[in-house]
Amino acid sequence: MSNPQDIAGTFQRALSISESGSPHAVLTSPTQSYLAQVGGISLKSTKALKPFSTGDIKILLLENVNSTAINIFKNQGYQVEFYKTSLPEDELIEKIKDVHAIGIRSKTKLTSKILQHAKNLVTVGCFCIGTNQVDLEYAGKAGIAVFNSPFSNSRSVAELVIAEIITLARQLGDRSIEMHTGTWNKVSAKCWEIRGKTLGIVGYGHIGSQLSVLAESMGMNVIYYDVTMIMALGNSKQVDTLDDLLQRADFVTLHVPATAETKNLLSTPQFAAMKDGAYVINASRGTVIDIPALIEAMKAGKIAGAALDVYPHEPAKNGEGLFSNELNGFAEELCSLRNVILTPHIGGSTEEAQSAIGIEVATSLTKYINEGNSIGAVNFPEVSLRDLDLDQENSVRVLYIHQNVPGVLKTVNNILSNHNIEKQFTDSRGDVAYLMADISEVDQTDIKSLYEQLEQTPYKIATRLLY
Ligand SMILES: NC(=O)c1ccc[n+]([C@@H]2O[C@H](COP(=O)([O-])OP(=O)(O)OC[C@H]3O[C@@H](n4cnc5c(N)ncnc54)[C@H](O)[C@@H]3O)[C@@H](O)[C@H]2O)c1
Repeated sequence: MSNPQDIAGTFQRALSISESGSPHAVLTSPTQSYLAQVGGISLKSTKALKPFSTGDIKILLLENVNSTAINIFKNQGYQVEFYKTSLPEDELIEKIKDVHAIGIRSKTKLTSKILQHAKNLVTVGCFCIGTNQVDLEYAGKAGIAVFNSPFSNSRSVAELVIAEIITLARQLGDRSIEMHTGTWNKVSAKCWEIRGKTLGIVGYGHIGSQLSVLAESMGMNVIYYDVTMIMALGNSKQVDTLDDLLQRADFVTLHVPATAETKNLLSTPQFAAMKDGAYVINASRGTVIDIPALIEAMKAGKIAGAALDVYPHEPAKNGEGLFSNELNGFAEELCSLRNVILTPHIGGSTEEAQSAIGIEVATSLTKYINEGNSIGAVNFPEVSLRDLDLDQENSVRVLYIHQNVPGVLKTVNNILSNHNIEKQFTDSRGDVAYLMADISEVDQTDIKSLYEQLEQTPYKIATRLLY
């Protein structure tokens, strides 16, 4: 948990550096300089905020986080400690005591036992999709914002599905297995072009909509079903019901989240509603298809082929013999079917996705450290304010994380009331609330007193001032 003394110490150092004009002081907002670098965006009119001496920001990166992230952090002047693997618990406890941010992937478990040793930690970056390796509730209550990257691999999944549509239509999996075992089997019966066929996309979010554009460019007609009304891309058309989609599609592909509503979204009645000889693709989550019902539908000849990337139970590591009946009771029967493509949850596994994840998460962490912007946090109220202008010299940004109880804002606004509150935004999530305010007409000598007053308020979790 962030220790007020340590935050105060860092704050003091920042203040003294700014006064002494040390070369380590941040001259431009690091996030701005990064954006300008990667996107050629000119952000000259926005004020650089100085949270700490950037030389003091320590980032611990584990599990071979992508080099795009390391570059972003180094460009900020942060101190980066990098490990290719995760660390044993005792070593992690030692390392986490000191750092302001930690970047992990799925193997590092950040339990409350570990997090309670973190004295300066303000943020955690999960350089992956999932976040259940972190005790999110504990982190939130300790004022630690956790970020991940849910959408950096959307394109990779969409491309895999395109490949699977053609592979199923041409029975490529079977032909390849036959050739590997010495069998020459040149057939055209029940092999199809995909041009002019109808693709039914269930879930028109990040992946579904990317896929829609790619499929249309290959001459497919696209229809989609989503619980939300979403504007169609290209010539695709939203349909009103899942049944409508199932009755019209030659290929049905699922791109919905795993929820109670989507559990067994496709089961016996849905397969029965589909066209004879239709194909089914699932690269969303393993619970969304009733796989034993799919097996029955394939054996009956109703479904001509299927591609599955996800399963109700998935092995925790790579290795031979792990995809077995012990893990999923249907495994052997599924493997025995023809024209079934099985992949080990690789939809989003590309070099491009890893590099995009590195950029997305590192940028989120940098924006949170430098500007207090928590948009995209998974355990924390999402708060942001537009940048301060360069001419707002005597402005301070107040970041105040507190328990979500009545009366706190009154106390805080009393403290801020001697200054002009230019803008203010507060939001809560569960037991935690986060206030961000830009106040002007703040003399440098007032900053310390403001900080101390805020630190002494009841229900405070953490305070940061950027100036
Ligand atoms: N195979 C992989 O490696 C891989 C990689 C990334 C994502 N995924 C999974 O793919 C799925 C889609 O991801 P995304 O990034 O496109 O998500 P998203 O949140 O952008 O889109 C999901 C869409 O599904 C819709 N939806 C929700 N419930 C629905 C229902 N009952 N019926 C119809 N539509 C419904 C939502 O309104 C939304 O438009 C998720 O389950 C995700 O976990 C898998």
